[in-house]
Amino acid sequence: MKKTPLAVVALGAVAALALVGCSNNNNTTPPANTPAATSAPADTTAAAPTDTTAPAPADTSTPASTAAAGGTLTTLPTFPAGSIIGVSLPQKTSENWVMAEGLFNTQLKAAGYKPMVNFANNGVTDQQNQIQAMITAGAKLIVIGAIDGSQLGSQVAAAKQAGITVIAYDRALTNTSNVDLYIGYDNFEVGVLQGTALLAGLQAQKASEGPPWNIELIAGSPDDANSKPFFDGAMSVLQPKIDDGTLKVPSGQTTQQQAATQGWLAQNAQKRMDAVLAANYAGGTTLSGILSPNDTLARAALTSVKNAGLPNPVITGQDSEVESIALIGAGTQYMTINKDTGNLVTQVVKTIGDIQAGNPISYGTTTPNGSIDIPTIFLTPTAVTQDNLCTAYDPTTAPTESKAALATAFCKSKS
Ligand code: BGC
Repeated sequence: MKKTPLAVVALGAVAALALVGCSNNNNTTPPANTPAATSAPADTTAAAPTDTTAPAPADTSTPASTAAAGGTLTTLPTFPAGSIIGVSLPQKTSENWVMAEGLFNTQLKAAGYKPMVNFANNGVTDQQNQIQAMITAGAKLIVIGAIDGSQLGSQVAAAKQAGITVIAYDRALTNTSNVDLYIGYDNFEVGVLQGTALLAGLQAQKASEGPPWNIELIAGSPDDANSKPFFDGAMSVLQPKIDDGTLKVPSGQTTQQQAATQGWLAQNAQKRMDAVLAANYAGGTTLSGILSPNDTLARAALTSVKNAGLPNPVITGQDSEVESIALIGAGTQYMTINKDTGNLVTQVVKTIGDIQAGNPISYGTTTPNGSIDIPTIFLTPTAVTQDNLCTAYDPTTAPTESKAALATAFCKSKS
């Protein structure tokens, strides 16, 4: 097993985070799609547990995504071994994208392909141009993690014209029929896990402050098709608790639009949280919890809370970023989501191999994208809190090995 020293891991994280501030995406078009999972009924069974020592409970609800019909794709064009495979990634708004770059390069090369992996650091136009360049270069298959899934219609139409298979990676492509497959983690389930953990955390750590507990909500970038299922999944758990008075949102900002963070940028989340705290908590109102859709924004919100001189709230996250694993160990961030990037890239590269060989591709569900139901392969996300931190990450697979090492170090230091 290859070990990555923690210092290297931490430096990598800092480098990745430094890049976060450099992105520039002014596109405000909201996604038109409503992934199948978002139509799942509110899970009213996911109430705050009464056992305050229990870990965040596993979600037992059945999102519509898992109920939707799967199937088998048999008509995708095969292509020669050693072909060019394009991978178009968005901006480096979280660590998982940086990891994906390295993993795609390594795994595609190991499978004998010629990878052409690009980041669209300068926004949507950059991504459009990069995909066009992949088509011109003769790519046989293009994997796309879209900045704005609704803005690549012409490029994927051109890809289709050229007989190129298009796979949407992590984020759906919307309002186009020219996408063959979507491979990612179940986004609605991510939201359900976040909402469930927030309730469990309030019960476990803030019993003296509620119910009712005061919480605030943060949503992701409105141009990312994932932001809606994340938010809807969380609200399927939280809305019934707002309705029955268990939770209060003093700012009144309870819609995805009101809670949105353009470009997934930490500074945008922090700015909004600064304003929310100044307007609603300056007079001594207690803030007990924050729903944050990912780790980068959780840390931004924690900075805002600290600057306002308020006590540390229960706060959710996503991505298992190195800095946030440390914060969970320290008890500052309550939870994150493990969506192993290595497993996701491995699934994509395996699927590419199957397409190349002409094997049938099985998918478990579909995602309506405003034009078609995209055949979808969803991997299952898991929630991570202090309760399962020590065993949450696989120490045998990169890049999770370094997260496991970090988590283990925290667990050892605590025992
Ligand atoms: C991904 C998240 C990530 C966010 C910001 C989403 O589309 O699914 O894992 O935190 O983008 O980069």
